[in-house]
Amino acid sequence: MVVVPTENARAKSACHFRLSEEFIVHTVLGAPAPIRRSIPRPSGQPLDRCHWTDFPVMHDTRGNLTVIEGSRQVPFEIKRMYFLYDIPSQAARGGHAHRALTQVFIAMSGSFDLHLDDGTGQRTIHLSRANRGYLVRPWIWRTLDNFSGNSVCLVITDQFYDEADYIRDHDDFRQLVHAHPVAASRP
Ligand code: TYD
Repeated sequence: MVVVPTENARAKSACHFRLSEEFIVHTVLGAPAPIRRSIPRPSGQPLDRCHWTDFPVMHDTRGNLTVIEGSRQVPFEIKRMYFLYDIPSQAARGGHAHRALTQVFIAMSGSFDLHLDDGTGQRTIHLSRANRGYLVRPWIWRTLDNFSGNSVCLVITDQFYDEADYIRDHDDFRQLVHAHPVAASRP
């Protein structure tokens, strides 16, 4: 027997996905830590599921301490972290999309711009704080530029490195997004 999910079941499932993220962020960090993040809009476009995530800060006369734990401050098990540093000021990084990878970008030092394009909408994010990350979902073309001196970009991901997950050609990306809008919108 083939079971076709009803519209209602699909809506419930999408709602559960959004609620889970809210639950993780709000329950684990608790009341004392200021939590600011945008609520994803109800549309299915990948850009609508990207958002800021604030990390808790332990202020101290000796300096600040910020913690990021998998499935707590980021809504996935952390599989990999990498960082960009010694970046020439005119350099641009990225220039590709991912099929399955979710990433959180953080300016550990200095600042930079993150440009996002899901084939339908564009957004530019300026990152400049070590206790604030921006979560980017799959099926989004991203580039990074406008790096300040001594900037360090930390990237936390939910998957191991896999070159097959990359879409590095922009024409391919546009074709894939327009040919498979449902797949491109899936969480
Ligand atoms: P790339 O992802 O294109 O860098 P960025 O998007 O930050 O500009 O990766 C640059 C090179 O590094 C490329 O040859 C793949 C390799 N690489 C790894 O081997 N492992 C990794 O985890 C990452 C992110 C890249």
